[in-house]
Amino acid sequence: MVKEARTDIKWSELGFGYVETPYRYVCRYKNGAWEEGGLETEAKITLSECACVFQYSQSVFEGLKAYRTEDGKIVCFRPDLNAERMAMSAARLEMPPFPVDKFLEAVKMVVKANEEFVPPYGSGATLYLRPFMIGTNPVIGVKPAEEFEFRILVTPVGPYFKGGAKPIYIKVSDFDRAAPHGTGGIKAGLNYAMSLHPIVQAHKEGFAENMYLDPQTRTKVEETGGANIIFVTKDGKLVTPKSESILPSITRRSICYVAEHYLNMPVEHREVLFSEVDDFAEMGLCGTAAVISPVGRINDHGRIIDIPSGMEEMGPWTKKLYDTLTGIQMGRVEAPEGWIVCIDE
Ligand code: PLP
Ligand code: COI
Repeated sequence: MVKEARTDIKWSELGFGYVETPYRYVCRYKNGAWEEGGLETEAKITLSECACVFQYSQSVFEGLKAYRTEDGKIVCFRPDLNAERMAMSAARLEMPPFPVDKFLEAVKMVVKANEEFVPPYGSGATLYLRPFMIGTNPVIGVKPAEEFEFRILVTPVGPYFKGGAKPIYIKVSDFDRAAPHGTGGIKAGLNYAMSLHPIVQAHKEGFAENMYLDPQTRTKVEETGGANIIFVTKDGKLVTPKSESILPSITRRSICYVAEHYLNMPVEHREVLFSEVDDFAEMGLCGTAAVISPVGRINDHGRIIDIPSGMEEMGPWTKKLYDTLTGIQMGRVEAPEGWIVCIDE
């Protein structure tokens, strides 16, 4: 039996914010091994002031969503890929991988326990899961922790960008998101700490996000602070930027599959020069939080680039990709094998 969503929350008015929910999954690592792990009700964490996470930002995280489907189930979208990516992120920061099967079990457990907080089908809101791992024991010399905590908190969310599917206006950042051979390709808290100043600046100036170029030459498109970028050419080809310092977005990889196998679009995952942007017909940001958010205009140091699909609505190809992807996530379109995990199975 799946419990209905609570009736005392205005689901369609939710923004992308934190709402404390009753249960979180917690598992601790000590003496070289993960403990059993399970659900806890305490949202606060008590740690030494000298914990590695506070001193040296030893922290990695993930983001995925749970959805109510048209036929009343609760499902998650490709959580195995989050588990794999988190293990990669952890390895880069000298943290122990959290086992993939344990991760999948934890996802189901924590969503099931909070199922009244999974927004109703059609409300425009979803349950966002934030798995994260931190180094918890005290360290003062620069070295990794030996004890860790893995958690999954869940919070119901609405659209990441105000206005939902309305095209956004972004700027080319003067700052870099990632260094060559750095940590851009993993999901570490430190990548987001460095993006806080640029995003505050961008918001003050009236932009929704920052577009980062490759830090070495500033000639190639990388991604934004919280999403990968997709382009559609005038002849209907999907183009996505490739670089070692871009986070390998699960949404972007899924969109490429959908384009090729559901929409018959040719797909190119390759380096994209910033000078090519003037020639594309459509552009969007993609990610778990962003879903597919169309970009209508870019400000490159005062030079305005108007994407031909405009500021009023998504371009036609972006709309097809959006409808197919969200259709798969919410059970309206048949999913490829293994993409949808039902929390009751
Ligand atoms: N790029 C960055 C920097 C992100 O923070 C995210 C969010 O997770 C993404 C891309 C999109 O990744 P995914 O589609 O796996 O959520
Ligand atoms: C996600 O999409 O899950 C992210 O982690 C992006 C973040 C900026 C909210």
